[in-house]
Amino acid sequence: MTYETILVERRGPVTLVTLNRPQALNALNSQVLADLIHALEAFDADESQGCAVLTGSEKAFAAGADIKEMSTKGFADMYGGNFFAGYDRVTAVRKPVIAAVAGYALGGGCELAMMCDFILAGENAKFGQPEIKLGVTPGMGGSQRLARAVGKAKAMEMCLTGRMMDAAEAERAGLVSRILPTAELVEEALKTAELIAGMAPLAVKANKEMVNAAFETTLAQGIAFERRLFHAIFGTEDQKEGMAAFVEKRPGVWKGR
Ligand code: HXC
Repeated sequence: MTYETILVERRGPVTLVTLNRPQALNALNSQVLADLIHALEAFDADESQGCAVLTGSEKAFAAGADIKEMSTKGFADMYGGNFFAGYDRVTAVRKPVIAAVAGYALGGGCELAMMCDFILAGENAKFGQPEIKLGVTPGMGGSQRLARAVGKAKAMEMCLTGRMMDAAEAERAGLVSRILPTAELVEEALKTAELIAGMAPLAVKANKEMVNAAFETTLAQGIAFERRLFHAIFGTEDQKEGMAAFVEKRPGVWKGR
């Protein structure tokens, strides 16, 4: 399958999705959203695929939602068309998606990276929510996910001033899990994705679901949810296999059941 605004490659059990609008620094327009949803839902449905990497170019992961596309829209277009609601389908993907961010991740670009399960950053990465400078606000979850990721002080300052955070600050603040040399970012992200894709598939889904629950529940509800999923995973063949493999000092061979 070929797309207008993204490139999709399979590397064994890993799907690499590359945003590909270099002339607009990968600004996210409606076509990018449609392409992304199609590619990520196909990845999610494909049993041979275990993890995805979403990346951009060395200059820009994505410089934001497409300002030129939005500039003439009014309230009726935005509210009536529920603009950006399609991104909920990106976060509904049940298999892990890693964001590999080099260069600018601004506005919608930062928000898209935060929709992924974790962010690996190139040394040159720059994160920001500069919507205030355009007279607007984040609209793809930035105010909420950034506040949860880095806390109120940094999130509020970034949203109110449009200040960018470099990779080192983003790592200190907990926005990114690791920093990598920019030139090695995608290959390292693919290695991490391959590692995840080699784990028991149902356990991967369950781990993703329970960590995400931490952001939606009280501590007691989250712990109860974790415990029930943990109990449920003992109904899988892969739990028997994983524990037998440990005892027999050999790697597990997963069935996804
Ligand atoms: C549309 C964009 C764009 C964007 C860059 N381009 N960002 N087009 N939407 N978000 C286009 C430029 O217009 C230009 O096209 C080309 O990409 C190269 O960009 P330059 O500005 O020439 O590059 P550079 O000088 O290197 O500056 C890079 C930059 C700057 C600092 C990232 O492009 C920039 O500030 N971009 C906007 C960042 C931003 O405000 N993002 C948030 C958007 S709002 P031409 O045709 O001129 O060559 C958002 C959320 C909206 O994301 C939610 C609520 C509404």
